[in-house]
Amino acid sequence: MQTQIDDLRALIRHHERKYYIENLPEISDAEFDRLMKQLEALEAASDAPIPPDSPTQRVGGGAVLGTRIPHRNPMLSLNNSYDEQELNEFGERVRRLLEDEPTEYVTELKIDGLGVSLIYENGVFTRGLTRGDGEYGEDITDNLRTIRSVPLRLIETDAEIPSVLEARGEVFIPKHRLDDINMQREAEGEPPFANPRNAAAGSLRLQDASITASRPLDIFVYNLNYVEGIEFSTHTESLEKMKRWGLKCNPYATCHKSIDEVQHYYEQWVEKRHDLPYETDGVVVKVNQLSQQHELGATSKYPRWAIAYKFNAQQAITTVEKIEVQVGRTGALTPVAILKPVSLAGATITNATLHNEQEIRSKDIRIGDRIVLERAGDVIPKIVEVLTKERTGNETVFVFPDRCPVCGTPVERSEEEVVVRCVNISCVAQLKRRIAHYASRNALQIEGLGPATIDQLVDKELVRDVADLYALAVEPLSELDRMGVPSAHNLVHQIKKSKTAPVEKVLFGLGIFHVGETVAELLIERFLSLDALSRATPEDIESVDGIGPQIAESVVNFFSQNQPLIDKLRESGLQCFTVTTDATRIEASVVTDTFFSGKTFVVTGSLEGMTRTEASKEIKTRGGKVTSSVTSKTDYLIAGEGAGSKYTKAVELDVPILTEADFFQKL
Ligand code: IVH
Repeated sequence: MQTQIDDLRALIRHHERKYYIENLPEISDAEFDRLMKQLEALEAASDAPIPPDSPTQRVGGGAVLGTRIPHRNPMLSLNNSYDEQELNEFGERVRRLLEDEPTEYVTELKIDGLGVSLIYENGVFTRGLTRGDGEYGEDITDNLRTIRSVPLRLIETDAEIPSVLEARGEVFIPKHRLDDINMQREAEGEPPFANPRNAAAGSLRLQDASITASRPLDIFVYNLNYVEGIEFSTHTESLEKMKRWGLKCNPYATCHKSIDEVQHYYEQWVEKRHDLPYETDGVVVKVNQLSQQHELGATSKYPRWAIAYKFNAQQAITTVEKIEVQVGRTGALTPVAILKPVSLAGATITNATLHNEQEIRSKDIRIGDRIVLERAGDVIPKIVEVLTKERTGNETVFVFPDRCPVCGTPVERSEEEVVVRCVNISCVAQLKRRIAHYASRNALQIEGLGPATIDQLVDKELVRDVADLYALAVEPLSELDRMGVPSAHNLVHQIKKSKTAPVEKVLFGLGIFHVGETVAELLIERFLSLDALSRATPEDIESVDGIGPQIAESVVNFFSQNQPLIDKLRESGLQCFTVTTDATRIEASVVTDTFFSGKTFVVTGSLEGMTRTEASKEIKTRGGKVTSSVTSKTDYLIAGEGAGSKYTKAVELDVPILTEADFFQKL
C-alpha cells in the first residue's frame, strides 16, 4: 500500500504543478478530485504517519499565527522612479559605481500584492513569513501552505535539492476574483476589501487557515534570497533554477543589454498591463550579475542594484456628494469629500481627503461637483481637477464649521498655519486618535487595539489617556462589543508587551506636535531618556542637529503641560524609565583604543550606506564623541552628499574632512 500512496502523491503533485503553476492542466477538475479522494482514503487506511508535504495536508497544522521571526537578512523595499529621466539616473549611478563595467538588466512586472519569504529545508516547505517591518516577519506558514501554487515539496532536478533555500515572492489575488470575495463578505456582514492587495493581505493573516484556503490566492516568486551550497552567477540563472525546482515565477522576466531596452519594455506594459489577470503597479529593474549586485550593495532601505519603475497613476471621474469634517489627533480639522463610489485602479473609492480649508478654496471644490480623481499605488486618492464646465448651478460652496463637529468647542485659526483646530484637549475625537497613534505600528505597536475598540473604551470612559490602557483588565474588555474573553486576554497581553518598547518609540507615541519618528530618534540620541528630555531647555533641544525652534518649543510645552501623564506612564511600569537605553548600552560597550576614541566628530549631509543616527552610534561605540556644530574643538567632519554650511565652516577652521568612503574605511 505504501508504494501506491507514494505514487499517488507524486502523481497529484505533478497535476498540481501543471494546473496551478504552469497553467497547462492535463486532466479535468473532476479527475483531479477523484485522485485526491483516493489518496485521502488510502492515507486514512494506512498506519504510516502522513508527512506534512503530502498534497492532502494543505489545511491543518495549527501553529500560532503571527509569531515574529527574524529574517535571514532584511527584506528591503525598492526605491521608486516615475519617469525616463529617473530611470536613466539609476542607470548612470550603476554605471558610475561599477566603473563602466558592461551591465545587463532584468525587468520583471512589479506585482501588487504582499511580499513573503518561503523557506524550504531539504526540499520541504517548512516556513513562510510576511515581510513585516523588513527585519522581522510574521509566521504565516499554515496560511501559505493553502496556496496551491506554493509547492509543499521541491522537484528534484539535475542539481541536488539544497539543504536550505529561501525564496521571496509576492502573494496576490487575481483582479476579477475580488468581487466574488466582497460579495461573500458583505453577505457575512463584513466590510468589503478596497483592492486585491488588501484582500490578499487580509487573507494571509487570518487565524483560520481553512478560510485562507477558500480565497483564490496565488504567488509569483521573484528572488532567490538564499541557497545553501549552490553558486549562481546571474539573477536570470536563479530564476530558471527556481522554475525547475517547481516554484512559480512570472513568465515576463526579460534580460536587456541597455537602459534604453528597459524603457522599451516599460512602455510595452503601460497599456498591456490592463489585460493581465493580476494588478501590477510598475516594472522592477534589476542588475543581472550577482557579483555586480553584491558590489553595488544596499542602503539601509533599498538595494542599489534594483529600482521600481512605477506606472502612472490612474484616473477616474465622479461626483462629490458631501463634505465631512474629521478631527485628528492634534485637533486639526480635516475636510473629507464623500464621493459617489467609483472604481479606480481596482479599488472602489468612496472618499478623498481635502487636506484643509485652503485646499477646498484654491481648487474651488463644491458639493455636487464632478471631479477627476487620481490614485497612485498605495497613496490615498486625491482630487486633481474640478470639471467646472460640467457645473449645473446646483453645486453648493462648503462652509467650514466654526465649532468642532465632535465636542462643539469653537475652533481656532492660527496666523501662520492653514490648519483649523479644535483646541479642547479633552475632545474625545482627539483622544481616540491619540490612543490610535500610541498603539500604531511605528509607535508602541499594540496589536488588536483597533478603532472600534478605542471608540468603546473612550465612550465608556474606561480610558481617559494612554496610560489608562495599562490598567485595563480582561473583565471590562471582554464585555465590549465584538470582543470575547480570548481576544480580551490577547489585548491585555499586547498592552503589557508594549511596556518593553524602546524609549524613542514611546516618545514618538506620545504624539507631540512636530515630533515624528526621526525627530524622536534624534532627541533620544542626545538626551537618552524622557526624564532628561523633560528637563531640557529650548536652547538645549535646538542645539541638536536637525531640530529647529518650532520643535523645541513644542517639546518643552508638551512636557510642561503633561508631567502627570509621564508620571502615570512611569508608574504603569514602562521599562524605558528604568532599563538601559540603546544610548546607555552604547556607553557600556565602548571600545577605547580606536581611531575614533577621544575624538570629536560632526556628521553632516546624507550618507548612502547608513543614516546619520547609525553613523553616530558607530562612532560612539568606538569611543568617539558626536556633536552637532563644527567648532575649533571638532577633530573631523564626516561629510555626506549635500553637505552645506558645516562643510564651509570646517574648511574655514581647517577641520579635516572625511568622505563617506574614508569614514567606512576607518570603521
Ligand atoms: S524585488 C531587494 N521583484 O515590491 C529586492 N519585488 O516596493 C526587493 N514586488 O517588497 C524586491 N514584484 O514585495 C521584487 N518582481 C518583483 C516584485 C517585487 C513585487 C514587491 C516586493 C517588494 C516591493 C517593493
